[in-house]
Amino acid sequence: MRTVRWGILGTGGIARTFVDGLGPMPEAEVLAVGSRSEASAAAFAGERGIPRQYAAYEHLAADPDVDVVYVATPHPFHAENVELCLRAGKAVLCEKPFSVNAAEAENVVGLARDRGLFLMEGMWTRFFPLMEEVRRLVSDGTVGEVKMLNVDFGFRADLDPASRLFDPALGGGALLDVGVYCVSFASMVLGRPTRALGLSHLGETGVDEQASIVLEHEGGSLANLSIGTRTATPQEATIMGTGGYVRIHSPWWRPKSMTVSRPGADDETIEAPVSGNGFGYEAAEVMACLERGVTESAVMPLDETVAVMRTMDGLRAAWGLVYPSEKTQS
Ligand SMILES: NC(=O)c1ccc[n+]([C@@H]2O[C@H](COP(=O)([O-])OP(=O)(O)OC[C@H]3O[C@@H](n4cnc5c(N)ncnc54)[C@H](OP(=O)(O)O)[C@@H]3O)[C@@H](O)[C@H]2O)c1
Repeated sequence: MRTVRWGILGTGGIARTFVDGLGPMPEAEVLAVGSRSEASAAAFAGERGIPRQYAAYEHLAADPDVDVVYVATPHPFHAENVELCLRAGKAVLCEKPFSVNAAEAENVVGLARDRGLFLMEGMWTRFFPLMEEVRRLVSDGTVGEVKMLNVDFGFRADLDPASRLFDPALGGGALLDVGVYCVSFASMVLGRPTRALGLSHLGETGVDEQASIVLEHEGGSLANLSIGTRTATPQEATIMGTGGYVRIHSPWWRPKSMTVSRPGADDETIEAPVSGNGFGYEAAEVMACLERGVTESAVMPLDETVAVMRTMDGLRAAWGLVYPSEKTQS
């Protein structure tokens, strides 16, 4: 496999973690980083030994030697950052949530398809070896026909109105930050929901701090989701079928083990150790797609990413949660 040269757009927390995840991969080279500021670009490049640094995202996108850009800015900037890179002819891996809403997602997906460029949502959970086992087990009918699932993702953050988690201008709120994992997981196991109902508590900054959501799927299957940014939850996922159930142990979104329980049989625990910090799996998928010349991942298809965004649009509409960035969109 030839070396894939990565550009990193944004120098925040997850960008650092992602670069660390690429570290042990011989086929990946982090060639360049782009930031809104020269100081951040220089500090990030210096810390991580990245040869090229740019004090504007436009300059990163214009680097002819960068093969693929990883977009790691707060959610309201994803669509414009992805568009910038696609217009410069780059393949793109964009952090979750893919965008703030489905309309933004559809725009960039259309652009990537028109230009024949690779694009994928960085829903890293999907690419862990244990999640491959989960998909196998569901399609094999190991626990019969799946009828329900419970999944939760909540943690207790201090209320900081200026932070990405709480500031509406930065796309704050539990649904977009952690709820997206749960909606995407339900979609992976049960397919596209036919109905989504939810109740949320909007906190003092006006964004959802916790929510309980029920998704109805084809054939009457149901998914129960509990999410929060001010409430710690067990971070477990349980898939329940007509012939038993599977518990993906905490934290299910960075999965290492699960237990299959079936009536009349001993419980079976399946382990799949995680290599590195776990970000290498999604990066490997991107690089394998580029190597094969395919523009979409079959594990995280773009139509599914858009559908997940549409489900979250519906939930937010019922909660009256509109982001400032959406007020200027038609
Ligand atoms: N997959 C995961 O496990 C995971 C974990 C955490 C976060 N995420 C996702 O990654 C994205 C970034 O999260 P993060 O925690 O890394 O955020 P962060 O630490 O706040 O960093 C975001 C970076 O985006 C850039 N940026 C551009 N416009 C900005 C603005 N107006 N305000 C603040 N920063 C701006 C900044 O880089 P420059 O100053 O260099 O331009 C900043 O360092 C989010 O969409 C989040 O959902 C994913």
